[in-house]
Amino acid sequence: MAKPVVLVTRKLPEGVQDRLAAMFDARLNPADETWYRDGAEIVRRATETGAAGILCAAGDALNVQTIAALPPSVRILATFSVGTDHIDLAAARARGIAVANTPEVLSFATAEIAFTLMLMAARRAGEGERMVRAGAWTGWAPTQLMGVTLEGKTLGILGFGRIGRELAQMARGMRMTIHYRNRSRVAPELEQGAVYHDNDDSFLGAIDVLSMHIPGGAETRKWLDATRIAKLKRGAIVVNTGRGTTVDDEALVAALRSGHLRAAGLDVYDGEPKVYPGYMDLENVALLPHLGSATIETRDAMGARCIENLEALLIKGQEPPYRAA
Ligand code: DGY
Repeated sequence: MAKPVVLVTRKLPEGVQDRLAAMFDARLNPADETWYRDGAEIVRRATETGAAGILCAAGDALNVQTIAALPPSVRILATFSVGTDHIDLAAARARGIAVANTPEVLSFATAEIAFTLMLMAARRAGEGERMVRAGAWTGWAPTQLMGVTLEGKTLGILGFGRIGRELAQMARGMRMTIHYRNRSRVAPELEQGAVYHDNDDSFLGAIDVLSMHIPGGAETRKWLDATRIAKLKRGAIVVNTGRGTTVDDEALVAALRSGHLRAAGLDVYDGEPKVYPGYMDLENVALLPHLGSATIETRDAMGARCIENLEALLIKGQEPPYRAA
């Protein structure tokens, strides 16, 4: 029997590509050409190859128009991500196309990047690195690049899912107090003493560091706006490793400039790979290029999840184990 065709939109770790090529008629993108940003091109390639599955990723143009135009051969969109905001889920549902993602395996790695950004912002690590590289360091000095310690501070985690809870665990090691805001209160064994807030005002007013872990999409668009920023304590730090769309960039830049916020650390941006220009000349913001899940171990595990999803539906005729919609 012919192997099902899987259109792979991105270059993936070598071992993952090898497994895909062994199990499917995989149409790989080893040169990482950027046609995945063009919905018409995704449709053209899916039609030309008669793809049964598309292995896609964050940033792919799988909007309502693209999904509506996909050929009837396509049965599954297996995304190499936990986030699904790049896929119009309602359009996929309407076409009967399954959407499956890669939960769990990237939680620790993403929490590591949130933790890294928190430290970079608090301890001015980016500024220090730039100073050394520019040859501008004149030697140790008692008042040079003084930051703030995280020890004893209150960390506010917005979105207390797997990533947020991994971060809480790391922060406990820094003797931070954990508060969280979530759709609903989690079970005590997951809470582990973290303080739940059922409203934004009490949450934002209680914390020294805000770490954002909410999904993208219309509901969360510009969640962190000028009004909510004003409710944070003066000198607070903001970190975002969720989705860039959840922050009002203009308002965040204004608060970083005015000194209302001490610093920020960002891994995600609205309209990636574009970065809001206002951040570029601010010393008190650390900017990373969406590194959340970028470890060798995690990317291999994400590949394995994608393969499990594709194999279940296209080879075994079963429900994908990590179906998102
Ligand atoms: C995810 O998995 O959602 C990461 O942000 C990469 O897109």
